[in-house]
Amino acid sequence: MNIFHVSSEVFPYSKTGGLADMTAALAKAQAVAGHEVTLVTPLYRGIRDQFEGIKPSDTQLSFPLGQAKKTATVWTHNPAENLTILFLDQPELFDRENVYGEDDDAERFIFFSKAATRLAKRADIIHAHDWQSALTMPLLSLGQAQIGTVFTIHNAAYQGRFGRDKFELTGLPDSFFNWQQLEFYDDINLLKGGVVFADLATTVSPRYAEELLTPEYGCGLEGVFQAKGSALTGVLNGVDYSEWNTNNNPHLVAPFSADAPEGKAANKTALQSELGLDEQPGLPLLGNISRFAEQKGIDILLDALEQQLAGGVAFQYTGLGSGDARLEQAMSDLAKRHPGRIAIRVGYDTALAHRIEAGCDFFVMPSRFEPCGLNQLYSLRYGAIPIVRETGGLKDSIIDLSQGDDTATGIKFEQPNSDALGQALGQAFKLYSDPSRLAKVRDNGMRADFSWFRTTTEYDRLYNTIRQ
Ligand code: ADP
Ligand code: GLC
Repeated sequence: MNIFHVSSEVFPYSKTGGLADMTAALAKAQAVAGHEVTLVTPLYRGIRDQFEGIKPSDTQLSFPLGQAKKTATVWTHNPAENLTILFLDQPELFDRENVYGEDDDAERFIFFSKAATRLAKRADIIHAHDWQSALTMPLLSLGQAQIGTVFTIHNAAYQGRFGRDKFELTGLPDSFFNWQQLEFYDDINLLKGGVVFADLATTVSPRYAEELLTPEYGCGLEGVFQAKGSALTGVLNGVDYSEWNTNNNPHLVAPFSADAPEGKAANKTALQSELGLDEQPGLPLLGNISRFAEQKGIDILLDALEQQLAGGVAFQYTGLGSGDARLEQAMSDLAKRHPGRIAIRVGYDTALAHRIEAGCDFFVMPSRFEPCGLNQLYSLRYGAIPIVRETGGLKDSIIDLSQGDDTATGIKFEQPNSDALGQALGQAFKLYSDPSRLAKVRDNGMRADFSWFRTTTEYDRLYNTIRQ
């Protein structure tokens, strides 16, 4: 099959979150499975300098964006057999410090989707991801009926909602601006347009697909998701174990695996030393890596850590993240008040992310919602037992202690508050105090297999239901 992905971020070229990992890994796995895969993404600042193999192509695009006319060129990279990355080069829009959060994000990603639609001509399937690529779906409905269209929602909280004056940038007929298509309370809503016009909408876990139908999780679009009926399904993401592996990993001080778990201890000691934590191998070490956003429940985590510290519990915690300035400050203050016990790194650091996964005993994810979540999957493989709120992909991927030590891979809690998390932490500390139980649960997780084979097979099946 000829598959054409459209994504605003792709690892290793650009990344702000799991979308980059997911699209890179899915495209790669589909190419390995024998499909001809192309992925289009913007050429952001710095990419060309970092990846020598990126070459200019003859393709030039020129089309109107509202009253302006914009031109772009295309650069290409072939990182693997059957896999081509197309980079859309439009310096005015994409040669920026930030991937998102610019005043003209509407212009930037409407342009991106229009260009992607033009580049997608020969595909059997066009698979677009999140609001930044969503406009491809209504645009394709205007012409190329032979192409099957799939739209994946990675996070319904980000919708690409802009004032109605931006509608003219899309080039769509005015008739598309109505409440059943792109209009949402008099604004334009790109995510809504993607869902409505796609032959098939998917999201990144079965549980989140159910949650999207409710007012609590649907972010105002629950009616749109409900209307999709059986054409909205959830497929759990996989892990690229060639990136996230513990055996042959330049970021780690010692290899380890389910068959030879001893090396994990050296990674814990090295992490304690790197972060200035007391080098006490006997203390349980908790970790978290995430965007500091409402979604991730960092405030809940902060309160729960305070409670445990006030209660005199002996443990250590390390967090890596950035985002909400208030949370960055509160976390940093906590570390200042508890040197040797709490270490916080504000920023974005992929190498440290690997070392935290490898060094920690437990990985905490108190997310208010989590469409899939990748860190709990990485944590399983890295022997950091996940402590997760029971929502979305966290619910689908972790087996709770209550299921028995033979199968359990983590600890789940239900309510999004610090008391519930505190109880889960209590369970974790109890587990830690029993080395043979701890080793068993850790081993179950390290042996769990979330490789992309299952996920690509499921997407193949879905693609085949809509191929013309
Ligand atoms: P989301 O996409 O909602 O942020 P995911 O769990 O799907 O959540 O994916 C997050 C990805 O981003 C993971 O690969 C994680 O390691 C990475 N990540 C998040 N914050 C940081 C950070 N501060 N430094 C390094 N990697 C980070
Ligand atoms: C989104 C979600 C996250 C998911 C990722 C990749 O960023 O917040 O849960 O893992 O997309 O699909």
